[in-house]
Amino acid sequence: MSGSKTAVLFVCLGNICRSPLAEAVFRKQVKEAGLEDRFVVDSAGTSSYHEGEGPDPRTVKVARARGVEMTGRARQIRREDAKRFDYIIAMDESNLRDVQRIVAEAGVHSPRVMRLREFDPEAGGDLDVPDPYYGGPRGFENVHDIVERSCAALLEHIIAERGLGASANERAGS
Ligand code: 4NP
Repeated sequence: MSGSKTAVLFVCLGNICRSPLAEAVFRKQVKEAGLEDRFVVDSAGTSSYHEGEGPDPRTVKVARARGVEMTGRARQIRREDAKRFDYIIAMDESNLRDVQRIVAEAGVHSPRVMRLREFDPEAGGDLDVPDPYYGGPRGFENVHDIVERSCAALLEHIIAERGLGASANERAGS
């Protein structure tokens, strides 16, 4: 997608908690690496439950306290996304299965489909970002911690895989 840009889509169930947070955190990290013009970053939900809604205020509150501003409206993932995005990053096993099905239905093999916590250095055996929706405030703090460290490692992975390291160094030094 978009010539030389790398397109990354984050996916959860509702697109109001985990994936829009990952989108905002990743976008901030990309900007800090000086790679803003080399990436397209978006998020979507596997469900249409919250289509058109803004992000969950509990997620927004924790993000804002940590200097991350969230924007955008929830939307459902569609087959076309399988063609547009280079990386589709699911939050949990259930999202992963749904994304794999959509990519298969789209008949493309181009996107890399993974779970975000595959990049979490502290994941241990648990590769799901837990769904905070029905839990208390501590859950939102925990999700934020997981998303921040996993996105940082994901960005390093993509920089290495796509050979963007030189651009990142040049920009950071300029
Ligand atoms: P998300 O959280 O998938 O991280 O956006 C959820 C949001 C809404 C619901 C479940 C999870 N829901 O059941 O409405």
